[in-house]
Amino acid sequence: MTVRRIPLVAGNWKMNFDHLEATYFVQKLAWLLRDAHFDFKRCEVALFPSFTSLRSVQVLVEADRLRVTYGAQSVSVTTQGAFTGDVSADMIAHLGCSYVIVGHSERRKYHPEDDANIVDQVRAVLAAGMQPILCVGESFEERRQGIELDFAVGQVRDVTRDLSDEETSKLIVAYEPVWAIGTGMVATPQSAQEASCAIREDLRETFGADVADAVRILYGGSVTSKNAAELISQPDVDGFLIGGAALDVDELAKIARLVSKSTQGR
Ligand code: PGA
Repeated sequence: MTVRRIPLVAGNWKMNFDHLEATYFVQKLAWLLRDAHFDFKRCEVALFPSFTSLRSVQVLVEADRLRVTYGAQSVSVTTQGAFTGDVSADMIAHLGCSYVIVGHSERRKYHPEDDANIVDQVRAVLAAGMQPILCVGESFEERRQGIELDFAVGQVRDVTRDLSDEETSKLIVAYEPVWAIGTGMVATPQSAQEASCAIREDLRETFGADVADAVRILYGGSVTSKNAAELISQPDVDGFLIGGAALDVDELAKIARLVSKSTQGR
């Protein structure tokens, strides 16, 4: 069976934009994409605002039937109770979110999110009917040691080990070498392809072709409109998780347009 993977351009806003700025951004993005050059069947665009902006984004997207999807940047592993400051997967799902980013390197660094916690987050997101975007990728040290592929594949394995075929097929993996995030040092298209291919082949070995061909694998780390075309031309790179460049609406629309033009669906 050949599964068609629609490329995904995901804008991770991190801790930027209040709800008024978020609303303005979404309107302008929708307006920029609503032209003859953008084919939504060839590229999905998703935004990841702060929790405080999700409701505003939902209202706008639903009221104007905008073809933009959205999600949250993190999630609690518990469903409810005395967990001050946490937000559950169900609360996020009830705001119309399609996705939740899980295991971003900034979360792993600044919060107590270890591998076990990340597995629980993935489970919580799936149980609430959303798709997790699982971030993996080596630091500079692992790259120096030449173990970057094993490292990224191992991080995916740690999460998929206890998942069913069906659950795994809903996963989106973002290969984000930590040294490339926010540094301007983008991975070469060859190394983004190598890592994405290694992850997909490992999924193929464990879960079979249908699952491996369904999982979208994104590249993240200093993506801009200058490097996006070459990166997306790689057969196993199914889109991007974008930080800095996703704060500029013209730049994000430009990247989405490049992706929609250079892919036929996979
Ligand atoms: P960047 O961030 O595009 O600013 O490198 C990517 C990310 O953190 O997902």
